[in-house]
Amino acid sequence: MENIKPNEITAGVVGLGLMGCSITTCLLMAGHKVIAVAPIAVDLLHAERRIREHLVNALNHGLITEMPEHYFQQLVLTEDYALLEPCGLVIECTIEDIAIKKSVYEKIEAVVSTNAIVTSNTSAIPISMLQQETKHPERFFGLHWAEPSHTTRFLEIICGAKSEISKGEFLYALSHFWGKEPTLVRKDIRGFITNRLMYSMYREACYLVENGYATVEDVDRACRNNGGYWMTLVGVFGWMDLTGVAAYHTVMKDLLPTLNNQVTIPKLIDDIVKDGGRGISNGKGFYQYTPEEAKLWEETFTEFSYDIRQLALKYPADVVKKKLAALQETKE
Ligand SMILES: NC(=O)c1ccc[n+]([C@@H]2O[C@H](COP(=O)([O-])OP(=O)(O)OC[C@H]3O[C@@H](n4cnc5c(N)ncnc54)[C@H](O)[C@@H]3O)[C@@H](O)[C@H]2O)c1
Repeated sequence: MENIKPNEITAGVVGLGLMGCSITTCLLMAGHKVIAVAPIAVDLLHAERRIREHLVNALNHGLITEMPEHYFQQLVLTEDYALLEPCGLVIECTIEDIAIKKSVYEKIEAVVSTNAIVTSNTSAIPISMLQQETKHPERFFGLHWAEPSHTTRFLEIICGAKSEISKGEFLYALSHFWGKEPTLVRKDIRGFITNRLMYSMYREACYLVENGYATVEDVDRACRNNGGYWMTLVGVFGWMDLTGVAAYHTVMKDLLPTLNNQVTIPKLIDDIVKDGGRGISNGKGFYQYTPEEAKLWEETFTEFSYDIRQLALKYPADVVKKKLAALQETKE
């Protein structure tokens, strides 16, 4: 950890959509030089503006002290994969399509050194499957970020069947410089950790609405005020401990057999998507949004990301350990 110097590691980002831009911002803020590659020309129409907006917001919220121009000096925005050559780490951030990701890996591996670590921000494609599309699977990992990548603490580092674990441990150490509280997933599984947890919740939420137990609004309100209240402090196991593990044991016995376990896509979401719904981006989702409401939701999410980050920083994973150490000191 002490030997790691982000400013000595050039990082590459391939794919400059929603996540590619915030990941680029995060890497710049951590001191990396970043080569950001646009696999499709249209990325270049928005990338600079998006990254600048992230940096301005980060400056206004005190996450950085330098002006955006300082970071832009460390950034190359290009369509040319050849410029990835000096990268020690490359993060692929293109759409969730194996054929497209494969063509991107071919272009990356044609130019980077064999020591470079290559990663994917895939949401749920098993890393072992993506490794089969690479020339050097041992240096390939999943790096699963959460939007907006430059404010969230979340990062899953996923090893595939052929990943070299020491390189995963290096990513684990490096990601602390990106402001992360990372998780190293040592054994590959589809959906990794959080998407397995979240999708079981999305499925159950659809089931409750489809079957008339509650409305979309009611389910959302319950989530926001239950999980949404405590999850920034503790995870699911910490929560069960905090509130009495035996009670969960009792409830599981009768509740688990009644939970929904359908393996097809729920009708509620299927109908929306087949009707062209994309959510906030076109105003049609589980709720309907006017363009003005959609814009305000996006702005509110940005504002909230910074606020919750502030709160989260007050309560790191080792908050109690730190309190214990402070108590110890006062006793000595
Ligand atoms: N959006 C999220 O919150 C989120 C969270 C975690 C992981 N991810 C994952 O990150 C990746 C990117 O997601 P996003 O939300 O940034 O998507 P996005 O739609 O905003 O961006 C997708 C990018 O893919 C690239 N692309 C599109 N067509 C291409 C083609 N034909 N050839 C090569 N590249 C092409 C472009 O760079 C485009 O900007 C996906 O694998 C997604 O599952 C997204």
